[in-house]
Amino acid sequence: MIKWSRCPSKQLLYFWLLRDIPKFSRWKPVGLDVGCGKDLGNYPLFRSWRYIGIDLDIKLLDAIKPERRNNFYGSDDIFIIRNLLTTPFERGDFVLCVQVLTNKHFDTQNTVQTVDRLIDMTHMRGTLIFNTSKFTMQHEPVFEPMLYDSFERVTVRRYGAWSEQRTNFAPLLAGIMWAIPWLRHRGHHQKTYYICERKCKP
Ligand SMILES: C[S@@+](CC[C@H](N)C(=O)[O-])C[C@H]1O[C@@H](n2cnc3c(N)ncnc32)[C@H](O)[C@@H]1O
Repeated sequence: MIKWSRCPSKQLLYFWLLRDIPKFSRWKPVGLDVGCGKDLGNYPLFRSWRYIGIDLDIKLLDAIKPERRNNFYGSDDIFIIRNLLTTPFERGDFVLCVQVLTNKHFDTQNTVQTVDRLIDMTHMRGTLIFNTSKFTMQHEPVFEPMLYDSFERVTVRRYGAWSEQRTNFAPLLAGIMWAIPWLRHRGHHQKTYYICERKCKP
């Protein structure tokens, strides 16, 4: 299932998710989709045995189609209301939090606390994937060392070129950026995509 965008950098993110969600959620018991949104757009890519979608917006629950609210495989919690910052949370073997810290409504003061929560939510041997925006960039020097302390391997992809443009050639531009890393940011990144793999540290 491919998601399309006319924004080249968002399309690049979608291509990465198309590869990385199945890859890192496969064979994992619990997958968490934090800030899953009303269309549960990332749900079809999950390969974990169980999927838990979490979002704080209670109004979204009504917007989700009834057939999606049902448990597809009998063991999924498709959508539960949680504010990841304030309420008790589940732990996942695969934790995804994309387009949440990049959202214009996200309070950037909460960036470091949010990343800290996401780290806590990731089980031993689990993987955390999230992305950040130019609004949270100032906090990168604070939270990136936390990632390196907590995970055995951290993959950092800076991107964000052509974020303002809308074009039908977005998939082509995203493909070129996939192949040539420097073109993703052209020296001034606006977004960062993190893959954090925890092997044995709790
Ligand atoms: C732009 S949507 C992203 C949806 C989905 N992750 C995607 O990739 O399409 C951002 C979602 O994050 C949710 N969100 C923002 N802050 C949150 C928090 N502290 N706890 C839980 N959900 C949150 C919002 O309610 C919104 O549905």
